[in-house]
Amino acid sequence: MTTPDLNSRIAACSADIDGFLDHHLGAANRPPRLLAAMRHGALGGGKRLRPLLLRESAALFGITPQQSLAAGAAIEMVHCYSLVHDDLPDMDNDQLRRGKPTVWKAFDPALAILAGDALLTEAFALLSSPKTHPDPAIRAELIAALSLGAGQMVEGQVLDIEGETVPLDEDGVFRMQALKTGALIRTASEMGAILGNAGLDARAELVRFGISAGLVFQIADDILDVTATSDALGKTAGKDIEQNKSTIVALRGLDGARKILDHSVSGGLDALKGFGTQADPLRELIRHFAAREN
Ligand code: IPE
Ligand code: IPE
Ligand code: MG
Ligand code: MG
Ligand code: MG
Repeated sequence: MTTPDLNSRIAACSADIDGFLDHHLGAANRPPRLLAAMRHGALGGGKRLRPLLLRESAALFGITPQQSLAAGAAIEMVHCYSLVHDDLPDMDNDQLRRGKPTVWKAFDPALAILAGDALLTEAFALLSSPKTHPDPAIRAELIAALSLGAGQMVEGQVLDIEGETVPLDEDGVFRMQALKTGALIRTASEMGAILGNAGLDARAELVRFGISAGLVFQIADDILDVTATSDALGKTAGKDIEQNKSTIVALRGLDGARKILDHSVSGGLDALKGFGTQADPLRELIRHFAAREN
């Protein structure tokens, strides 16, 4: 069987996640404005790269896209919650996200906080449901992994905000990035391993891969903030300098950041060396994380 190319895999995963979330976030009986704000934050426009990473990690162990869909939707809801809160006036104060007004702009900051809270809790409700996996032990492991990753994201966000006033040194930036973005990306590949009931060694290698992929992802985000247009990004470009963010680009310049990016891609590829050609989709994905244009 041949594997479809990366663009087709991205499109397929994104359509699957959009369809799942559209249905899932339509079913529960919630106050209409809350539901509308949750849907605004979770539907339409996201690249859905964390669910794709989860799906392709799980595929190494014979798990089908259908079998990993609910877990992918859960991590995507946590990611969407993190963005809804990241954009708030007291955080990055952004007005544009995924080509639309941010949730706080479209509704109000209080509702954006609450919609984020609701997406976060809904993610764990979904993971606890048998439709995520029939084995309760696997579900408990998924919950443990995602709660760790989500908690680390919050720690990283605190360091990111503090870094606006007291600039972080290079180690500080790496640590902050590994937490704010790296933790959820690492969790995506680890959740794939958990769904696939991977052995300890394979799971550790996928965690190592995820750590590199997370670093790559955030350095690329920081480079794009400087090099891309708001139109291409669907969010306002140039915000990091404006807000005095501590980034690798700020410390090392674009060329220095690109070197670290390449080095981190190599680190990710190294983690996959035990997997053979079946891990080629993951190899392509980390290269895409580095070369993406939005
Ligand atoms: C943006 O994440 C925030 C970061 C962690 C850099 P994405 O670039 O994955 O955003 P969406 O989900 O595609 O909008
Ligand atoms: C996002 O980092 C990290 C999150 C946990 C949401 P950024 O603040 O750089 O993300 P963008 O650039 O707003 O998407
Ligand atoms: Mg931020
Ligand atoms: Mg931001
Ligand atoms: Mg950014």
